[in-house]
Parts: sequence; C-alpha cells; structure tokens
Amino acid sequence: MKKLFALFSVVLIQSSSAQDQMELGKTVYMQLCVACHQPTGAGLPPVFPPVIQTEYVSGSPERFAAMILKGVMGPITVNGMTYNNMMPPQEALLTDEKIAAAITYVRGSFGNTYPAVSPEVVKAARAKFTDRKTSWLEADLKAWPEGAASK
Ligand code: HEC
Repeated sequence: MKKLFALFSVVLIQSSSAQDQMELGKTVYMQLCVACHQPTGAGLPPVFPPVIQTEYVSGSPERFAAMILKGVMGPITVNGMTYNNMMPPQEALLTDEKIAAAITYVRGSFGNTYPAVSPEVVKAARAKFTDRKTSWLEADLKAWPEGAASK
C-alpha cells in the first residue's frame, strides 16, 4: 500500500511538472514565437512557415533546439512551400528551460502530438554547437543525423 502510494505520488509529480513545462512553453511561445508563427501555429505563408506537423517540428529534438539557438537562414521548404526569410537566433535570450518548454509546447499543440523535450537536450545542443556563429541553412538541417539525441 505504502509502495503504491509512493508510485502514485511520483506519477502525480511527473504529470504536474509536465503541465508546468507546457504552461511555461505557452508563455514563451505567446511572447516570442507568436509574432511569426501565429497563435494557431499556422504561420503566415509564404513569409513565416507553419509549425503544424512539419518535419522540423516532428523530427530530431536536437535539431529543433539547434534551430532555436542559432536561427535559420535562407530558402527552406516546409510542407511543400519555400520560404526565403530568416529566423533570429535566441541563444543569448532564452534559457535551456525556456527553449525546451517552447519546443515541448509546439510539439504538443496545434494538433501536434509529439513527445516532450527536456532542458538537457537543449543544454547538450548549446554545448555541442558553442563555436557555431552562423544560422543554419536548409542543407545543414536536411543532413542532420537521424535520431541524434532523439529524446
Ligand atoms: C521573427 C520571426 C520568427 C520568430 C520570432 C520565430 N520564428 Fe521560427 N521561423 C521563422 C522563419 C522565417 C522560419 C523559416 C526560416 C527561413 O526562411 O530560412 C522559421 C522556421 C522555424 C521552424 C522550422 C520550419 C517549420 O516551420 O517547421 C520551426 C520549427 C520554428 N521556426 C519554430 C519557432 C519557435 C518555437 C519559435 C519561438 C521560440 C520561433 N520559431 C520564433 C520566423 C520566426
């Protein structure tokens, strides 16, 4: 019985921190990402791409984190439409927690049902790409190793 209660508490604690992460993520999204990707996640084609069921939202969490950290530049095709714009880097402005929360919010909203991403993934990406000074190009993103830090 005691054991069961302990297990129950762990589940409760985990689900409340998952909820906290979604709430923080929504706050970050609504402060920052919303101007371009819109409250619905649909973006403003052909200027700002959608964040609904795209390969970049559903794919490698490490790549998603790297995109937020360093930004994205130049032509990129998203769900069949080509965008030739830029997303500004956020590495100097957002903590690992906030970036992970924003990613988790996007991956769990707008009809997306992809798993949450932990701040550790963002922390590792920040360390791995610390020397990179420029934003990503589509070719970099397409060449991302399959399953790199997939959790
Ligand atoms: C100033 C506008 C702007 C802001 C702010 C912004 N983005 Fe973007 N985002 C873009 C643009 C533009 C692109 C495509 C880049 C290109 O054309 O090279 C993009 C690309 C993306 C992509 C990859 C393509 C896709 O649509 O799947 C994702 C994912 C993404 N942004 C998520 C976010 C998240 C999450 C935030 C907030 C933390 C954010 N963006 C903030 C403009 C923005």
